[in-house]
Formats: sequence, C-alpha cells, structure tokens
Amino acid sequence: MSELKNDRFLKALLREPVDRTPVWMMRQAGRYLPEYRERREQAGSFMDLCKNAEFACDVTLQPLERFELDAAILFSDILTIPDAMGLGLYFITGEGPKFEKTIRTAKDVDAINVIDGEKDLGYVMNAVRTIRKELNGRVPLIGFSGSPWTLATYMIEGGSTREFRHIKEFMLTQPEAMHELLDKLADSVISYLNAQILAGAQAVQIFDTWGGVLSGPLYQEFSLNYMKKITAGLLRENEGRRVPVIMFTKGGGQWLPDMAAAGADCLGLDWSTDIGMARQLVGDQVSLQGNMDPSMLFAKPDRIRQEVAYILERFGKGNGHVFNLGHGISQFADPEHAKVFVDAVHELSEPYHK
Ligand code: CP3
Repeated sequence: MSELKNDRFLKALLREPVDRTPVWMMRQAGRYLPEYRERREQAGSFMDLCKNAEFACDVTLQPLERFELDAAILFSDILTIPDAMGLGLYFITGEGPKFEKTIRTAKDVDAINVIDGEKDLGYVMNAVRTIRKELNGRVPLIGFSGSPWTLATYMIEGGSTREFRHIKEFMLTQPEAMHELLDKLADSVISYLNAQILAGAQAVQIFDTWGGVLSGPLYQEFSLNYMKKITAGLLRENEGRRVPVIMFTKGGGQWLPDMAAAGADCLGLDWSTDIGMARQLVGDQVSLQGNMDPSMLFAKPDRIRQEVAYILERFGKGNGHVFNLGHGISQFADPEHAKVFVDAVHELSEPYHK
C-alpha cells in the first residue's frame, strides 16, 4: 500500500499535533454535486451506484477534485446491512429509503441472521479496495456503519419516520426481543467494519443518527451499550497504524461524558452543542469532530467564514479537532459555498496549531 501523503485527519483523531485543522463533510459525495447527479442517472438507481465499484469509487473522489478535503468517505449507505439481512431495501425519490419487509415481532427477530461483512457485502469491500487504490495515498479513507439503534429504527419502521412510534413501542413492550435484535446488529456491524478495515478503510465512523430521540437511561441501554460492544470488537490497528473510531450521536450533546468512556477515539458533534463546552466535558479522553450547522452553507461567503472562525475559537488552541458540519450537507447547498467552508478551515486554523 502506498505512503499516506496527508495524514492530518488521522493525527487529529488521535490528538496528535497537525499544521492545520483537517476538514471533511458528512455526505460530501451526493446530490448537491451536478457530477454526482449525472453518475447517479447513469447507474440507474442509488443501489446500483453503490454496487458498482468503479462508480462508487468515482463519486467518492468527486468532492476531492473540487475541494481540499483531508479525508475521503466510502460511498455507500448505512442500510446495506439490513438489505443483506434480507429486508429488501429500495428508494423512492422524495420519500427516502424503504424496506419490503419490516421487523415487528420476536419471531421476525429470530429469523434474522448476523451477517458476514466480506461474504454478504462483498460489493462494499470491492468499493473500498478500488477507492484505496485510486486514492493512491492522497488522503485517508473513512469506512462507516450505522449504529445498531439507528439501523433498527429503519428495520422496524420500514423507512424514515418522525415519530418513532413502532420502534419505541417495540422497545417498551418487547425489550428482550429488542435487545436480541440490537445484539445481532452489533455483531453484524463488527464484522462489517472489520471487513472494511481489512479492505483498506483507515478510520471508521459509527452513525447514530437517531440516538438523540431517546431519553438518557434508554439511550444508554438501547444505543450506547451496543456501540460499546462494537468499539470493543473492532480491529484497532492495521497496516502498522491505529485505526481510529468516530462515534456520532446526533442530539447526544448532553451525554458526552458517557460517550467519551465508550471506547471511541473521537466523538462527532452536531451543531446544537458548543464545541468549547464539549471539549471541557471530555477533557483529553477523546478528540472532537464538528460542528458547523449545515444550513450555514446557505449564508453568504463572509458569514460562512465568520462561523468557521467562531468554531475554531470556541475549540481553542491545541490538538484533537477535526472540522466538519454538524450533520450531512444539504442537497440544496451551493458547491461554491462548500469550497468557501473548506478553504476557510485551512486558512483560519493555522494560528491554533502554533
Ligand atoms: O458521506 C458520504 O458522502 C458517503 C455516503 C453516505 C450516504 N449515506 C450516501 C447517500 C453516507 C455516509 C450515508 C449515511 C446514511 N444513510 C445515514 C447516516 C448519516 C445521516 O445523514 O445521519 C442515514 C440515516 C442513511 C439512510 C439514508 N440513505 C437516507 C435517509 C437516505 C435518503 C436521504 C435523502 O435525502 O433522500 C439515503 C440515501 C442516500 N445515501 C443518498 C446518498 C448520497 C441520496 C440518494 C440518491 O442519490 O438518490
């Protein structure tokens, strides 16, 4: 494997010194880029785009051609695991992801098998290998998975939801079956992420997009516990380097001290938490990733730069900050504004590393 030319991102995740604050954007490959929409059209469907290693590699690299990003993220989706479990994933334009089958009873949970990352999701591993080769050491490649809780919400609801009625009813009335499902998902995520690491992913992020819809004790019991199981089961070193783990719970700002003790190297923050306060709470246990409101990209360039300056100042001097948006970039964002954002992070962060 080729030498890594820019390892700012991996260093910052491990709270090692860097020259400038590294930056990437969640959902950096996606519909806000016209070249993505073109490829997506050619592929036919979103899943066809994910399953074709050349296409997946191509869209992974698209944002890196435009912006000076410090990391690439595998182009895929968190819902590949439930799809591999036999639930039948499909996408309806404007409505997001849907499943042909849902999980509603203890019997449904019994019928689910733990997946094997390399065997059952070989197309993802092919994409990882192709991207690593094509990146040729330019920047590190991030692998990812959904958290067990977040995957379970889609599997039980059958798609996106605002209310989380079915999953919360299931959790509250059949807690044993819920735990059995989350345990199978945790084992599947471990196998899936370890396969990504062996295929070439140099850091991994666990997306707990819906952990924040739980109250504190239920977050601990049904989401954080299973992410702990995952961090304990992951390969933490490969190719002679540590493979850092990023844990991102959207809406999890008030649980940072518990999250910091859950075995991740870095915690992702959404924009509702002040990053200076977060740093005080976690101390030197973990690094922090975030956290500009993605809507800030709808502002004019001066306002975007001002916000970047503000977040850098709130984090302050020293190691352990990876700049990012607080959630995925909007499909309506102007790519020129994304460029302003990325450039501002590099330009304005230098003094914080002297
Ligand atoms: O970040 C990247 O560039 C890598 C690719 C990536 C996608 N999805 C591509 C995608 C990643 C990391 C994800 C993660 C993901 N997928 C999450 C967790 C992150 C988050 O945003 O909280 C979730 C909850 C999903 C599930 C999912 N996939 C939804 C809800 C949707 C529909 C989104 C929408 O706005 O319609 C998807 C589809 C999807 N995944 C798209 C992309 C680029 C858009 C599909 C298309 O091109 O039509």
